[in-house]
Amino acid sequence: MKRILFIPLALLIILLHSCKENTVKSPSVINEEGNETYSKVNDLLSQMTLEEKVGQMTQINASMFVTDGQIDEAKLRKQIVERGLGSILNTPFNQAYSLEDWRTYITTIQNIAKESRLKIPVIYGIDAIHGTTYTKNSTLFPHNIGLAATRNPELIKTLSKITAKEVRASGIRWNFDPVLDVGRNPLWPRFEETYGEDTYLVGEMGTSAILGYEEDGLSNPTAVAACIKHYLGYPAPAIGKDRTPAYIPDIVLKETFLPPFEKAVKTGCPTLMVNSGSINGVPVHANKYLLTDLLKDELGFKGFVVTDWEDIIYLYRDHKIVKDNSEAVKIAVNAGIDMSMVPYDDSFYDTLIELVNDGEVPMSRIDDAVSRILKVKFDLGLFDNPFPEEGTSENFGKEEYAQAALDAAQESITLLKNDTIQGKSVLPLNKNSRILLAGPGANSLATLNGSWSYIWEGFSDDLYPDTNLTIKEAIENKIGAGNVTTVGPEGFKEITDSHISLVKGFANTVDAIVLCLGENSYAETNGNMDDLMLPDDQLKLAQTAIATGKPVILILTQGRPLIINRIEPGVDGVLLAYRPGSKGPEALANILFGEYNPNGKLPFSYPHQPANLVNYDIATRAESFYNPQWPFGYGLSYTKFKIEDLKVSADTISSSKPINVSVKVTNTGKMDGKIAIDLYTRDLVASIIPPSKKLKRFTKIDLKAGESKIVEFELTKEDLSFINSDLKRVTEEGDFEVLVSDDSVRAVSEVDAKSRKVKEKDTDKRFLKAPFYYHP
Ligand code: BGC
Repeated sequence: MKRILFIPLALLIILLHSCKENTVKSPSVINEEGNETYSKVNDLLSQMTLEEKVGQMTQINASMFVTDGQIDEAKLRKQIVERGLGSILNTPFNQAYSLEDWRTYITTIQNIAKESRLKIPVIYGIDAIHGTTYTKNSTLFPHNIGLAATRNPELIKTLSKITAKEVRASGIRWNFDPVLDVGRNPLWPRFEETYGEDTYLVGEMGTSAILGYEEDGLSNPTAVAACIKHYLGYPAPAIGKDRTPAYIPDIVLKETFLPPFEKAVKTGCPTLMVNSGSINGVPVHANKYLLTDLLKDELGFKGFVVTDWEDIIYLYRDHKIVKDNSEAVKIAVNAGIDMSMVPYDDSFYDTLIELVNDGEVPMSRIDDAVSRILKVKFDLGLFDNPFPEEGTSENFGKEEYAQAALDAAQESITLLKNDTIQGKSVLPLNKNSRILLAGPGANSLATLNGSWSYIWEGFSDDLYPDTNLTIKEAIENKIGAGNVTTVGPEGFKEITDSHISLVKGFANTVDAIVLCLGENSYAETNGNMDDLMLPDDQLKLAQTAIATGKPVILILTQGRPLIINRIEPGVDGVLLAYRPGSKGPEALANILFGEYNPNGKLPFSYPHQPANLVNYDIATRAESFYNPQWPFGYGLSYTKFKIEDLKVSADTISSSKPINVSVKVTNTGKMDGKIAIDLYTRDLVASIIPPSKKLKRFTKIDLKAGESKIVEFELTKEDLSFINSDLKRVTEEGDFEVLVSDDSVRAVSEVDAKSRKVKEKDTDKRFLKAPFYYHP
């Protein structure tokens, strides 16, 4: 009897269960009335088993299906056909592939995906952060930190479009970029990946990158899906070390770190990657408020959320907020994670299936996640043709891309110092000059490119294309090898006593010494540092060069501002090249010898002293502590610009009436040139201590020698808003100022040798100001 009763009950349970897996459509699944793609998504979703759904939410690293260094199709088949794996990232064992190898590899993967029950294509992702990373011979552009110095969003769009073409030519349709982290702390080793310290600048440049990646339409063979990252608060760890806890008040989170993501979500970005770290003790991967309530519900993000590397595992292994993998998967998926970058095992897949079967993760959450992922796959055209598209190989490695890389490097390089010697500026150098070239950056490709350059850390000089020059080669090409004496080291190595002796020995035979200093390539955590000071061996080299009495010019290739206050007073010229990419050396040579007029502007405050890492928009109350070596927005030119007649169109701005701001800019020098104009506002009185000033607009213009232009901006009430103590964005009635920096006023900190106090600061002297009033 018992037995008879047991069988139908078991059957019923099985039936109910399979019914649940196959037909449940969650009301929370994103849908839009009349949207054909969502209908397709929901149709497909209704046919999927739980296992197939969880497979779509799983991303693994290519190393998981390699045997003896080769792609193992049996392993691939097991993942994709048996387990319904939805996504793969990076190359096996962090190596660069040729374009052809990528195309073959992606074709193999998608062919195997076609063997699966529902033939759902795989979405493949990589980090093409400054050009295409893992494809040999791709074009590498300056890192974001340099691109931010260009103040040229159109240029960024152009570069991103090129990246999209080269990535897609490789058969890949998903790019983990742009980085929208606001680089507030130069100790953080991912500073070079940011667009600098200003929220507005990061938002503008980041959205241009998204447009470049996606403007042609995701299904077009010239586009890739962007992935904004790393949401939220990643760049502000309390101790400056990568992936360590951050403590960020909500008011700062919303004022400083959130706006670029808000802007990108409005642009329609389809994917987002989460910050590996924690904020106020809660890892972001477990933060339902940030991932669901704020991002998906309040901001209306309709794309899918992917974890960063191993970050669900981190929740128990490193953050220790849960005891095991099961609790970690549960908390992360329930918080709003849609896809897990696992990436080295099956721990996510197996566990999530169990959790759903046990009722710990609702099916509605799974359906929501999977529908978001499928939507992006449909939009990318992967269901129509998942293979590398015919003819797209031609979009790789075009001559014009190299030109774009050169333009970008030229526009980013920032002239920070150009002293006058005997009535003449030290730069540009005469092409007949004899040069002594020294320092670890002179003969290194890695230092020019930094992280995400053919491989993750970018430090293998032998992976760079033969066409890439070092600074030494570019200078030799420009003025003839006979005019250049180079003192090692070969590659970014330590400077020895013999290099120092050679500098002393050769100094008399040359007209100027060019020192290539900075830092080697690194990526993420292995770029953590304890000292922002330029290393001792490089300081010693510079001191030796200065002591020779010859003009000394510094070229800095570095991802963050290494402090140079011990040598800066002795050098005559400083060119900050950031990580200038493939064409950096040619750009530097053009600038050094006057064929290009530099116009980069600092996207961060270059610190003067190691314990004074203050951002430019510090609260007015603390403004007297803003003592950088060079302030935010600083950058010189070979010509002179006069900036005058700053005017506002009305003395009052209201909700319905924006104001226009205009300023006259004249090139009063002898050389044609570009200049970026940064426009700031200052709130004179506010209910919370106002920042000293905030960047609100920027633009760049070209001026022939002698030419004038009127530059105009429009400001609205929203531009004057801030997050108040109730965490609401408000604009308060009262007095404001607009400010534009006057480039003719120098803004360099100098330390009084005796008192060690900074003598000259980024004072108001540097700014033209105009008052106005906001009336609601
Ligand atoms: C980085 C991400 C990157 C991911 C995939 C992580 O270690 O934090 O920025 O997108 O790896 O390569």
